Amino acid sequence: MADISVNNLNLWYGDFQALINVNVHFTQKQITAIIGPSGCGKSTLLRVFNRMNDLIEGVRTTGEVMIDAENIVSEKTDLVSLRKKVGMVFQRPNPFPLSIYENIVFGQKVHAEGLTKLKLNEVVEDSLKSVFLWDELKDKLNKSAFTLSLEQKQRLCIARLIVVKPEILLMDEPCSTLDPQATSRIEELMRELKNNYTTIIVTHNMQQAARVSDQTGFMLLGELVEFGRTEDIFTKPKDKRTEDYITGRYG
Ligand SMILES: Nc1ncnc2c1ncn2[C@@H]1O[C@H](COP(=O)(O)OP(=O)(O)OP(=O)(O)O)[C@@H](O)[C@H]1O
Ligand SMILES: [Mg+2]
Repeated sequence: MADISVNNLNLWYGDFQALINVNVHFTQKQITAIIGPSGCGKSTLLRVFNRMNDLIEGVRTTGEVMIDAENIVSEKTDLVSLRKKVGMVFQRPNPFPLSIYENIVFGQKVHAEGLTKLKLNEVVEDSLKSVFLWDELKDKLNKSAFTLSLEQKQRLCIARLIVVKPEILLMDEPCSTLDPQATSRIEELMRELKNNYTTIIVTHNMQQAARVSDQTGFMLLGELVEFGRTEDIFTKPKDKRTEDYITGRYG
């Protein structure tokens, strides 16, 4: 497990500054929610932690992001091992066009070659159990992952992450395509998993942030305006802008 320390982080897309002097500490075994209006930089901040912004042309970053005593925004960072350590779940569940079984062993094969079939079976069973999918899927492991419901697909994507033993789970609006019941079951899963990871969830849904997170950060126009215990952010925010947002005075 690993804390994340962000120090004086700035990020530009070309001339546009999308993150402005962000300082924050994410604690292991806790769920931190990042909230804020559309375009405030939530996804950009998440993508710093697995260096996915590197895929975008013209991105420039300054400052420091420490994970396990390593500054992961440095040029020297090994992106393969970073992305093994930092897993990400997206808004739209994106299983591979493969069987349920293959979706899970795919990452395992990439990261640890030479496992026996028996060992792989065990990995599949354990990871599906950890996302509470085993009982419903154990008899259809060779079916295409595309046959699953949205909720099952999102769980499968989480299972696929878990097999590579990440320390950090990034979730960008993981429930936005799900109905309220499925959302609440995924939130339950997040709580089940939280003791093994440092979890950061981006959400538009303030009720979700309030329900699921221990810490909350509020972002506006690239700045982290306020960060603290979720209860405090929602009941006694210190900054007027946070208060306006949580009481619904922003769009
Ligand atoms: N690839 C890009 N090139 C240029 N600008 C970008 C790029 N991606 C994002 N931006 C800009 O950076 C800012 C932050 O975007 P980001 O996607 O991080 O916001 P967000 O808080 O995740 O928004 P949403 O809630 O809509 O997902 C926005 O002004 C956006 O237009
Ligand atoms: Mg976003």
